Amino acid sequence: MRTPRTIITCLSEESREERDKAIVKNEKTGILVMKEAIEKIRVEALRELSEAKDERHVEDVRIRYLGKKGRLTAVLKNLKELSPEERPLVGQLSNELKKELELRLSDALRRFLQKSRRDKLSEERIDVTLPGRCLSLGSKHPISQVTERIVEIFSALGFSVAEGPEIELDYYNFEALNIPKHHPARDMHDTFYITDEVVLRTHTSPVQVRVMEKHSPPVRIICPGKVYRRDSDISHTPMFHQVEGLLVDEGISFGDLKGVLTVFIHQMFSPDTAVRFRPSFFPFTEPSAEVDIQCVMCRGNGCRVCSNTGWLEILGSGMVNPAVFRMVGYDTERVTGFAFGMGIERIAMLKYGIDDIRLFYENDARFLHQF
Ligand code: FA5
Ligand code: MG
Repeated sequence: MRTPRTIITCLSEESREERDKAIVKNEKTGILVMKEAIEKIRVEALRELSEAKDERHVEDVRIRYLGKKGRLTAVLKNLKELSPEERPLVGQLSNELKKELELRLSDALRRFLQKSRRDKLSEERIDVTLPGRCLSLGSKHPISQVTERIVEIFSALGFSVAEGPEIELDYYNFEALNIPKHHPARDMHDTFYITDEVVLRTHTSPVQVRVMEKHSPPVRIICPGKVYRRDSDISHTPMFHQVEGLLVDEGISFGDLKGVLTVFIHQMFSPDTAVRFRPSFFPFTEPSAEVDIQCVMCRGNGCRVCSNTGWLEILGSGMVNPAVFRMVGYDTERVTGFAFGMGIERIAMLKYGIDDIRLFYENDARFLHQF
């Protein structure tokens, strides 16, 4: 059944949707009004489309005109309300407009898509003339470098490298080195105990015993490795490195000890470095000596680093105590030997002029890359 038709009095004052319906329903104003109304829809749709700023706006326009409740859709839907004379022409006009709008909409959409693709490409453009990003390569740790140099020097003197465990029996760390339980010398090593009988080795000297247990003389070894003490300040860390040295043969004298260590120091530092052997005590050597070198900072004049003495201690050494030889079954009448142990961090600090041992273990690349 046909709905009653209304006359449009004031086009511009009614809401658009109602107005469009009204246009369609208007019989009396006839085809002319319909034509004008469709033209108006066209002009407004094209204006809105030209004002669209992006794909979303274009889609909004499509929905407003061609969507289910769109203005042109409304006209098409209401064709059946028109008289048989009006229907073909209005239908033709609206369908033409529909086609035109669809074309314009898809054109606009394509333009915006192309634009956003262009924008994205220029945003992501790669400047091939920029310098490449460098992989930051690591460098050998200064302690490793100094260890390698020490090994190199002693290898040239005929020493070979031996190794031992870092978790060590109390027996090898102390007792076999002539430091029985409750001996006061144990106080010099602030020991990490794992059990009563197992410790983190406090020095590399236990390797001497392990090597001598397995090999009969002559022995000529060095042993670089990590050692542990409960100790921490600007010249002590709880983990540090030592290199042990042991030479056992017939007729080895203190002169050999002095000669080997002096050659080492001259090669490690410089040939004119003054060396001093100072009497000392270790339970596993007799006699014992600590070895000092002329302070590398002040050339012996006295400074903060050497506490104004002009000398710096770099290692402990001595002739192997016969008590140690007896523990491993060596013939103390036939062989003698010397041993020494040095702190690698200490050597590295002197070589490179570093005044705080903790810098080695802070892993600051700015520090480490200097070596
Ligand atoms: C010893 O450890 C003896 N085993 C050395 C030795 C071997 C003597 C063979 C005789 C024969 P001493 O405790 O002095 O000795 O340590 C040797 C070196 O290790 C020291 O000169 C020092 O350079 C270094 N050192 C000791 N404690 C620390 C620490 N907490 N941090 C860094 N270096 C250390
Ligand atoms: Mg010492």
